Amino acid sequence: MYLTSEEEKMYRGEYGWAYEVSMKILTQLGDLFGASSLISINSAHLSGVSYKTLGDAPIEFLQAIVDAGGKVKVKSSLNPSCMDSFYLPEKLPKEYGEKQSQILDLYTKMGATPTLTCTPYYLYKFQKNTHHAWAESSAVIYANSVLGAWTNREGSPSALASALIGKTPEYGLHLSENRKPTIRVKVETKLQNETEYGALGIHLGKQLKDNIPLFEGLKGYTTIDLKQLGAGLASSGMTSLFYPSYNTTEKLETISIEAKTIKETIQNMSTTEKPPNLIFIGCPHCSLNEIRSIAYNLKNKKLRKDTELWVCTSPYMKEKAKKWVNTIEKAGGHVLCGTCAIVTWLKPLGIETLMTNSAKTAYYAPTLNNTQVTLAPLNQCLKTATNNRKT
Ligand code: F3S
Repeated sequence: MYLTSEEEKMYRGEYGWAYEVSMKILTQLGDLFGASSLISINSAHLSGVSYKTLGDAPIEFLQAIVDAGGKVKVKSSLNPSCMDSFYLPEKLPKEYGEKQSQILDLYTKMGATPTLTCTPYYLYKFQKNTHHAWAESSAVIYANSVLGAWTNREGSPSALASALIGKTPEYGLHLSENRKPTIRVKVETKLQNETEYGALGIHLGKQLKDNIPLFEGLKGYTTIDLKQLGAGLASSGMTSLFYPSYNTTEKLETISIEAKTIKETIQNMSTTEKPPNLIFIGCPHCSLNEIRSIAYNLKNKKLRKDTELWVCTSPYMKEKAKKWVNTIEKAGGHVLCGTCAIVTWLKPLGIETLMTNSAKTAYYAPTLNNTQVTLAPLNQCLKTATNNRKT
């Protein structure tokens, strides 16, 4: 891969170890994928933030970067952590909170902004056709498919290396020739809600391999539906770009999806009919509109005492949605910011059954949190949270 003289100096360690190791990560990646050079990026989004998913070993690496004077060169946002500010610290071991603070402190010293969200696109505006280096698969696919910004699906080390150098190797989705649809997906049914969009994503992600799907037949979708579709596709597979609609005369292999497939996917992902200990909304993190519609739904209602409701979002959005947050909390729900049910621990909280409108959470929770799941749309989740039921 071609390096400018400045990049060569960083590679040789003339600007210190933090930039040297970052350049080595990026050049190895670039060589592996046949990139000809590095290109400048406008932003990085860093995963590897939650202490639950990160563990102890990488903290030493982050500390070494800070000790070597590593500072990010571009706007760098952070994925959710394992704690919110108020609710979880009282319920989880103190040590988890201390480790989490240590990790956040290290990223902050590098100059990253503790946005603590998987939906950084609700905080900042991202221009079309600009280059970025994002980790967090649900954000990557949203950036490429809905925002029209360009990013590969980075891992934690490569996103951090790109943040420190301000560049990424030019390969994959940074090249227009690699962004064309390669398969047509005919959706033969009208999807009814965000959960059905997420289920479509989970079903397709398993079979698309590295194809870029172009959808035909999706009608009346919202960006929330597309967020769920993308999160599903990127969870069960490697898809990082899709086209909800696109004009092309090109002949493409076509697959069809019928209502029955969506229904079966939701049924198969629902592993329990037991009453949920937790109802979790906000995977990926909620937008202002989502928080508002939850608040409308819960106005003047009281939640059941035997079920918790978590609505997860970014600290920024929680602050912006104060009025709606109050309504949700008045009903007995918890608006947790900077975390989610997947990147924190549920068992120590006594949570064994979970209900969610997110196909991504339903996909991960049984393995990552050892919980049984019911997958259902938002309205049904909120109805369960407020209804009287036989237990
Ligand atoms: Fe975000 Fe947690 Fe879902 S990080 S995408 S809310 S699993």
